[in-house]
Amino acid sequence: MLFAFASGIGAISAVFQLLKVGDHVILPDDVYYAVNKLMEDVLKRWNLTYSMIDMSNIEDVENAIQQNTQLIWLESPSNPQLKISDIKSISKIAKKNNILTVVDNTWLTPVFQNPMKLGADIVVHSSTKYFGGHSDVLGGCVVLNDSKLADDIKAIQRLSGAVPSPFDCWLIGRGIQTLHLRITKQTKNAFKLAKYLESHPKVLQVLYPGLKSHPQHKLAKKQQNKGYGAMVSILLNMTEEETYNISTKLKLFTSATSLGGVESLVEHRKSVEGPDSLTPDNLIRISVGIEHINDLKADWEQALSS
Ligand SMILES: Cc1ncc(COP(=O)(O)O)c(C=O)c1O
Repeated sequence: MLFAFASGIGAISAVFQLLKVGDHVILPDDVYYAVNKLMEDVLKRWNLTYSMIDMSNIEDVENAIQQNTQLIWLESPSNPQLKISDIKSISKIAKKNNILTVVDNTWLTPVFQNPMKLGADIVVHSSTKYFGGHSDVLGGCVVLNDSKLADDIKAIQRLSGAVPSPFDCWLIGRGIQTLHLRITKQTKNAFKLAKYLESHPKVLQVLYPGLKSHPQHKLAKKQQNKGYGAMVSILLNMTEEETYNISTKLKLFTSATSLGGVESLVEHRKSVEGPDSLTPDNLIRISVGIEHINDLKADWEQALSS
């Protein structure tokens, strides 16, 4: 069953509204920034508590479970550090402890990852990203296959108002028709760009699960359906200011906070997230589009050598 929302964060909020006062949630330590803010600025007032941990470490997940833990939130790859978590093992641990496992599958889409087949209870997507695919619509969805949870989500969707407009639904439906083509091409470009950036002397590290150098490359290979996605983060051998300046020197990559569209986007994540962000100063997040790979590489070459 799929429930459509007016935005990804609308879908995410609906899932958190399944919880009750006093519940505890486990989140990745580099969870999508707005989820952290939602917990800290809104849901804390409802006495919900949370722990942020390194989800790529199973022992940390087990140790974080408390008596009142009701939900484990996963992003794999995580935003923006592209850590991979073992969805199957974590879902198993969660089930044993009567905890819901929720996976935000925005970055890989169902083309490359099917969390419910790996044991997750709920999957959420920001349809704003790859489903829409053209950076011109907002949307989100919650996917599940439990009728009790579905009744609850349906009531939350209907009563709290984050419903999408008919036109936005039509745009997202049209986008989904080309999802497979777009994300396959974007992923091919991302892999080639990641390889190129990895060999550049000004790049300290490339965070991309398709590279053998990625700490969870083997897990990504096993868990994902032959695709590593089109999001890449890089750490530059530079100060915060220099890193930010590089992001503005790119000509083909537009500076923007969203991702997943056909055109390549880039952002200096820390300056978007603000002073309490835990994202490294020297990190640039790249959403790779469908342009010619030679043009994408040439743009980085000129920006990095400027
Ligand atoms: C992983 C992830 N989930 C959810 C969202 C929120 O989606 P929306 O912008 O549609 O509210 C984002 C937005 O950047 C995201 O990156």
